[in-house]
Amino acid sequence: MASPESKSRRKKLDKVLDEILTLPSLPEIVAEVTALVNDPDTGIAEIAKVIERDPALSMKLLRLVNSAFYGTRNEVTSIELAAALVGGRVLKNLVLNASVLKTLEGLGKKKLFDHHEFWAHSISCAVLAKLIGEKAEKGHLIDPEEAFTAGLLHDVGKIIIEQFLSDDFIQILEVIKAEGLPFSEAEERAGCLSHAEIGAALAEKWGLPLNLAHAVRYHHSSPPDSDGKYLACAVILADKFHHWLEEKTPEKDEEEADPKSPAPNPKILKELRLTQNDLTALEADFQSTMESGDLVQVFSE
Ligand SMILES: [Fe+2]
Ligand SMILES: [Fe+2]
Repeated sequence: MASPESKSRRKKLDKVLDEILTLPSLPEIVAEVTALVNDPDTGIAEIAKVIERDPALSMKLLRLVNSAFYGTRNEVTSIELAAALVGGRVLKNLVLNASVLKTLEGLGKKKLFDHHEFWAHSISCAVLAKLIGEKAEKGHLIDPEEAFTAGLLHDVGKIIIEQFLSDDFIQILEVIKAEGLPFSEAEERAGCLSHAEIGAALAEKWGLPLNLAHAVRYHHSSPPDSDGKYLACAVILADKFHHWLEEKTPEKDEEEADPKSPAPNPKILKELRLTQNDLTALEADFQSTMESGDLVQVFSE
């Protein structure tokens, strides 16, 4: 028989899943652009025309394409040129990322924690996951653009808990304060639902590919055996790596930091066919990407 504790968890999960069902869907333009990009008979001009119908999205795309992250040399002012420069695969994910951010912006009415810090972490993980995607078997295991989206979304369940299970959120914050535990352990200690599970439910509600939902669901556990295994590994590594970078202080660096410490789990590195040298390169690539422009601002504004 189910324990009262597991019954109450089930009830909470049902409640939050109901809330998730009432959340806004992603704009239709995401499905439309995805279908056009996947259709080999559609030219880039046609895709650009669809994007141009949404001025806010067009503006965001131009800012992204002109940011140092995409490394375009001359200022790009037309959607068609922007689309031609980045190509269909990148474009599809840019539209998805911009739409996800826009949809989530409309949700965050309650502010129980620092949202700027939240997005800084999410965007950093997105960049790291993309770089990991490029390094893992030279980009053959993972689509780096999809890895960026998975990194961006991995912690989105925290926003849902904050908005719809606010009492739980406050309880989790109290456990973090009292016991100094990371969020994922504090939510377990407080008997709350995991942000990973809730985030995956949101990804499913938005009709995102299964491997993206899995990357969100498993980012604090072991990767799944099948769909999205490598993508999940990339997000697990990106998340750990960013926390490690954040905790690494200059003093620690000189005296006690173990250069091997960012390696989360040798199994993950093995799955991704990455070496310790790749991790050293990852840190340098990440720092130079983040220094080259205020990516957090471009993405989160
Ligand atoms: Fe997380
Ligand atoms: Fe995270």
